[in-house]
Amino acid sequence: MKYITAKALENRIIAPGFGRLLLSAPLSAEQAVPGQFIMMKFWQGTVPFLMRPFSLNSVDPEAGTLSILYKIVGEGTKLLADLPLGSDVEVLGPLGTGFPLSESMRRIAVIGRGVGAAPMRFLAERARQYGIEVHAYISANSEEHLFDKAAYLSAGCSFTGCTDGNINVTSYFAEDLQQMKFDAAYVCGSKRLMRDVSALMDQYGFEGYVSLEAHMACGIGACKGCTVPVHTEDGAEVYARVCKEGPVFPVKRIV
Ligand SMILES: Cc1cc2nc3c(=O)[nH]c(=O)nc-3n(C[C@H](O)[C@H](O)[C@H](O)COP(=O)(O)OP(=O)(O)OC[C@H]3O[C@@H](n4cnc5c(N)ncnc54)[C@H](O)[C@@H]3O)c2cc1C
Ligand code: FES
Repeated sequence: MKYITAKALENRIIAPGFGRLLLSAPLSAEQAVPGQFIMMKFWQGTVPFLMRPFSLNSVDPEAGTLSILYKIVGEGTKLLADLPLGSDVEVLGPLGTGFPLSESMRRIAVIGRGVGAAPMRFLAERARQYGIEVHAYISANSEEHLFDKAAYLSAGCSFTGCTDGNINVTSYFAEDLQQMKFDAAYVCGSKRLMRDVSALMDQYGFEGYVSLEAHMACGIGACKGCTVPVHTEDGAEVYARVCKEGPVFPVKRIV
């Protein structure tokens, strides 16, 4: 895996505290699969010291571009929000193991909350290219924070947005499961959503995959700073690296 220098083509604040970055990175765009992430360094010098991980929100291999949806939470993401157009961005990736997706699937659900749902858009867009029916269930604090709603709709997905904190977005998925058969559900952004999906898998028997986040130093499996406990197929408990074996894991493997 090589470091490449990407170019910031667009960078704008889309709601207070949230931004979207469009990078020109043809080689990464060609290789990327949904669920993978990149490490980025978008500042000069050595402070901050570590590159920062971001999911691929949308990828256009023909245009050679990667789109990143980001929340401003600290030192690095504040610098990202101020990154001028045309700036060089050091990129490592695509990294990690993405979502299993098969062209033989007929119908899938993508489920997420807030900016944690970022990788779901790329998955939904790729699935639509395969002709798979996609139902998106996304929750957020407000309508303004359903950032990718228009993109899901324009890709031909059904979109259920939930901005009522008293309603769990998985309840809409549970309703649809009573009438439709899903081959798989993909979830990220919240442990509660993952637990709900796990319970629905027991009831309806579809495949389930979750994308995890962890603090990452290297992003390439070397430092072991991002490990989480997971079950092996025969039920033993082992540690897996979120950056290498993940960030996507079968839901039933999560301890
Ligand atoms: C695989 C992966 C994909 C990600 N995708 C996205 C994405 O698409 N969009 C996005 O906005 N963010 C994403 N993140 C989180 C993003 O990497 C962090 O928000 C970012 O590194 C924070 O950098 P900072 O310098 O602004 O914050 P810092 O100053 O480093 O930290 C600010 C606060 O954020 C917390 N924090 C930092 N990193 C993480 C983390 N990885 N997990 C949980 N809390 C953290 C810190 O504990 C601290 O409280 C992803 C993380 C991972 C591991
Ligand atoms: S971040 Fe270093 S092993 Fe995962």
